[in-house]
Amino acid sequence: MTEMEMCHSASAVSLTRAVLVLVHPDVKNWIKYARFEEKHSYFAHARKVYERAVEFFGEEHMDEHLYVAFAKFEETQKEFERVRVIYKYALDRIPKQDAQNLFKNYTIFEKKFGDRRGIEDIIVSKRRFQYEEEVKANPHNYDAWFDYLRLVESDMDAETVREVYERAIANVPPIQEKRHWKRYIYLWINYALYEELEAKASKCPKNKLFKGYIELELQLREFDRCRKLYEKFLEFAPENCTSWIKFAELETILGDIDRARAIYELAISQPRLDMPEVLWKSYIDFEIEQEEYEKTRSLYRRLLQRTQHVKVWISLAQFELSAGQEERLPRCRQVYEEANKAMRSCEEKEERVMLLESWRSFEDEFGTNATKERIDKLMPEKIKKRRKLQAEDGSDAGWEEYYDYIFPEDTANQPNLKLLAMAKLWKKQQQESEAAATDPDKDIDEKQT
Ligand SMILES: *[C@@H]1O[C@H](CO)[C@@H](O)[C@H](O)[C@H]1NC(C)=O
Ligand SMILES: *[C@@H]1O[C@H](CO)[C@@H](O)[C@H](O)[C@H]1NC(C)=O
Ligand SMILES: *[C@@H]1O[C@H](CO)[C@@H](O)[C@H](O)[C@H]1NC(C)=O
Repeated sequence: MTEMEMCHSASAVSLTRAVLVLVHPDVKNWIKYARFEEKHSYFAHARKVYERAVEFFGEEHMDEHLYVAFAKFEETQKEFERVRVIYKYALDRIPKQDAQNLFKNYTIFEKKFGDRRGIEDIIVSKRRFQYEEEVKANPHNYDAWFDYLRLVESDMDAETVREVYERAIANVPPIQEKRHWKRYIYLWINYALYEELEAKASKCPKNKLFKGYIELELQLREFDRCRKLYEKFLEFAPENCTSWIKFAELETILGDIDRARAIYELAISQPRLDMPEVLWKSYIDFEIEQEEYEKTRSLYRRLLQRTQHVKVWISLAQFELSAGQEERLPRCRQVYEEANKAMRSCEEKEERVMLLESWRSFEDEFGTNATKERIDKLMPEKIKKRRKLQAEDGSDAGWEEYYDYIFPEDTANQPNLKLLAMAKLWKKQQQESEAAATDPDKDIDEKQT
């Protein structure tokens, strides 16, 4: 045969084969067709045939032999990356029992050409496949999920791991059986720990995780585990007052008052807190509930060292009133006296007014004529004032009315201030006249030297 004839005959056979795969779409025929092309060095054609075959059978009718053949073809082409992709693609999709030849051929390939990593990949992929089958058969097989997760955690990227976790925790136990729930909860713990250790950057999913998990443990009355979780959670978000309070409340409910108190103490000692006022209020309410009045008092005092806010003072006064102890009226009044003194220097006159009004309503209800008279004397006079306004460009923007408060106590103090100022002035004048009397002598001394 001439070269021309050979070529001709080859393409005729090729065409026959092409028709054959369509008439008898067996894997065998596709492989024959591709091999034929390969034999005649039409490598690009051969590759196309394999690709079309893969497409033709789709994911529903995968046959390992096709993939082995395809991979072997690429191996002869020294396209080792392609080989690997083909094997992995097939291994991920063909059920284990139908993929024996694939595994064997792939293992041989990696032993020949691959690195250690590649061989490990085969093993992982094989085992992954097996776990997928197991959890598909029974999604509540938590042991299989654990094994599966252990595998992906040691070998896969965070996205994959997270995906498998999400799939796993979506399988809430169907029955109220503690054994199942325990396993299920361990999944959550592991997920939380994984997030904590591996995916350090993600705070929000972790919040969700811890919360869901703590609720589960509470339902199961696994209180020690709840404690552990709160501890972990707070290590990770020590500024979160809600968590501190919930943790302390848990201990309170469980009757471990000392622990609850210790938690509150730890909480208020944090350098940064998201809602300190809520935390302090909760701590104070806790001590009041325990009828620990001395401890409550001392807490108020500690709080007042940090803030002199009028609400804290009023709250303390109301505590004294409601504590129901002997001497409650004088104690309450005493707090108002003290607060009024402390707030004299307060910039916010409204706050001072708020205190006096609270005091007055106390006296209205519980006071004597004398004490009522006393508070009346302290009440400020409210006067309307006007001030000039400036627009942003500095131009005149008219007048604004506002209210100011004049506290009788302050006015009463003013003569004293005047006296002090006068005394200072007098002293200064005296020093000046003394200086004037001595200076001429000094001048002379200087001239002599
Ligand atoms: C590789 O796969 C082919 C068929 O796909 C099979 O005949 C052969 O036995 C396999 N190799 C090994 C070592 O199993
Ligand atoms: C604080 O913790 C609680 C759970 O105790 C959580 O629901 C909340 O989202 C957290 N707040 C912030 C700001 O992270
Ligand atoms: C208190 O004052 C009211 C009127 O302001 C008077 O009627 C009453 O007798 C006084 N009570 C006492 C105990 O002084």
